Amino acid sequence: MDFYEVIKTRRSVRSYKEDEISEDVLKRVLDAARIAPSGSNRQPWKFIIIKEQERRQKIAKLCHNQLFIADAPVVIVGCGRDIHYNRGGWMEECSVIIDVAIAFDHLTLAARAEGLGTCWIGSFDNDEIKDFLNIPEDVNVVAITPLGYPEKDSVFCESNDRLPLEEIIYHETWGKK
Ligand SMILES: Cc1cc2nc3c(=O)[nH]c(=O)nc-3n(C[C@H](O)[C@H](O)[C@H](O)COP(=O)(O)O)c2cc1C
Repeated sequence: MDFYEVIKTRRSVRSYKEDEISEDVLKRVLDAARIAPSGSNRQPWKFIIIKEQERRQKIAKLCHNQLFIADAPVVIVGCGRDIHYNRGGWMEECSVIIDVAIAFDHLTLAARAEGLGTCWIGSFDNDEIKDFLNIPEDVNVVAITPLGYPEKDSVFCESNDRLPLEEIIYHETWGKK
């Protein structure tokens, strides 16, 4: 699938079929996260793959009751270890979040290329999920996604709710269009 087709038609999917995901496909999607860039190549991430139905349901509840998450056959919890490295300047505190987010974006795009849906979940109870999944103290949950085949393939369509380029691009200096 063409790269631009992938990024244009990735959508947040909130309705899933129960169809299993083959291990080969799952591995390719996870490998896309593995090869992501990170500050000083620290790779501060771990990804917890949850397939057991009751555990998926528990995670969905801990995502402030976003129950559709559990409808997908796989739920992925993206975690980052705060290793206190400095990306430079004011972003120090954010480094781990940035790195895990880049890897997670790789994952969501690879999923789209495989015909799989994802939905980036940022609304969740970090402490409760850490407790449930035995995540160590110095590790936090950064992002969660269900992973599965969409109920309807038509969900993969181009968005029409993004700002136009003219509104987000400046030339040479802030404010110059
Ligand atoms: C950091 C982040 C957090 C998000 N959290 C949630 C969430 O908790 N629940 C949800 O249904 N969608 C969530 N989304 C999905 C956004 O609502 C969605 O990406 C946005 O509306 C654009 O739609 P699209 O993904 O279909 O292009 C999140 C997306 C991002 C990037």
